Amino acid sequence: MLPRPDFALHRAALLDRLADGEAVLLFATPHAVRNGDSEYRYRPDSDLYWLTGWTGPDAAIFLKRGEAPLTMFVQPRDPEQETWTGRRPGPEGARARYGADAAYAIEALEKELPRLLLGVHTLHYGFGRSAEDDALVSASIRKAERLARRSGVDVPETFHAPARLLHELRLHKSDDELAVLRKAAALTTDAHLAAMRVARPGRYEYEVEAAITHMFRAGGGDGPGYTPIVAGGDNANILHYHENDAVLGDGDLLLIDAGGEFALYTADVTRTFPVNGRFSEAQRRVYEVVLAAQEAAIAAAVVGARFLSVHEAAVRRLTEGMVALGLLEGDVDALIANEAYKRFYMHGTSHWLGLDVHDAGRYARAGASRPLQPGMVITVEPGLYIPAAAEGVPEALRGIGVRIEDDVLITEDGPEVLTAAAPRTVADIEAALAARSDA
Ligand code: GLY
Ligand code: MN
Ligand code: MN
Repeated sequence: MLPRPDFALHRAALLDRLADGEAVLLFATPHAVRNGDSEYRYRPDSDLYWLTGWTGPDAAIFLKRGEAPLTMFVQPRDPEQETWTGRRPGPEGARARYGADAAYAIEALEKELPRLLLGVHTLHYGFGRSAEDDALVSASIRKAERLARRSGVDVPETFHAPARLLHELRLHKSDDELAVLRKAAALTTDAHLAAMRVARPGRYEYEVEAAITHMFRAGGGDGPGYTPIVAGGDNANILHYHENDAVLGDGDLLLIDAGGEFALYTADVTRTFPVNGRFSEAQRRVYEVVLAAQEAAIAAAVVGARFLSVHEAAVRRLTEGMVALGLLEGDVDALIANEAYKRFYMHGTSHWLGLDVHDAGRYARAGASRPLQPGMVITVEPGLYIPAAAEGVPEALRGIGVRIEDDVLITEDGPEVLTAAAPRTVADIEAALAARSDA
């Protein structure tokens, strides 16, 4: 059976940490216009989904400890509208299938929210995301204040961003979430293997992108968790390259950063491999530096180590490699201290991973990078980028861009690479490429 997130478990974890008089209020993400009167396919709000599994737009939820903790406001049933835009569970479905203790049409929010806010002194709500939602919340608080004037019950006076509680919970993945993430990881490594089968000189980046996205959907996933990067040759040196429309050259490397989303959880994987099946000597030397940096960084991802120490391990190995390759000259400590390495490695090494590719959760607390704990999932993604136009660097290295990215679960037994099924060493990559047919 396909894994599913356990939304009731997530809700219970949140309720467990709410004090009496605290409540959480979340709104669904609005539809995004693509162009004219066309909209993007709707992507549910990650917070609201994490707590309920609700995937529709025009919704809000209110959670508070007590007899009836979850109140949902959702699109009402409407056969005429549903003919155009799809089936809606409605408030009935929210109660029957999504764990709502009370449910209303979204239109009732303005009337019901002031009453719900009575007795709440601390509201977890993310101001600043939507002016319209903010105005409704502010007006509801004013109404609640008027209602409370005589009785003296609490109304919200303290406000916390979702980062304080909800995002901390999302940061620590439970077993149900890890099962889903493992599925996303498997779809993604399958897709990278498919890319290796399809790529060859004369094919186009978009043909490889098509093979990747086919695997994401054919495997039951939602599609890409972020816009795929399929970057041949010097295009790899554009960090957010999205055109994916160039022809693949004999002798080029191909950098692919693509992750499949499953049940809205995404993987995030980058592989870089030679289009013609064999690394050139210069490509191999650069690749081995990045691989060594990734291995050092993964080894640093242990319980109790600071988040930043993973990046620091990668930067040290990359900088040593830059000196060995003739890209930089001087003392490695000094090149790190004066950030000379940023010319060829300008991004971070890790981010949290989960429902969002750059997932929720703080990276530092009280000014210090936070320690890694079991259940956190990070990416480890060092790279070296040497544009074709780079001056003062060895000729043979120009136009080479390499990134290797894997998804790593922090465990008591050490780092577990969730995406190890996609070949990563020079030997494994060349073997996978040698096994492709000439079709
Ligand atoms: N694919 C987005 C990232 O690597 O951060
Ligand atoms: Mn990443
Ligand atoms: Mn990536």
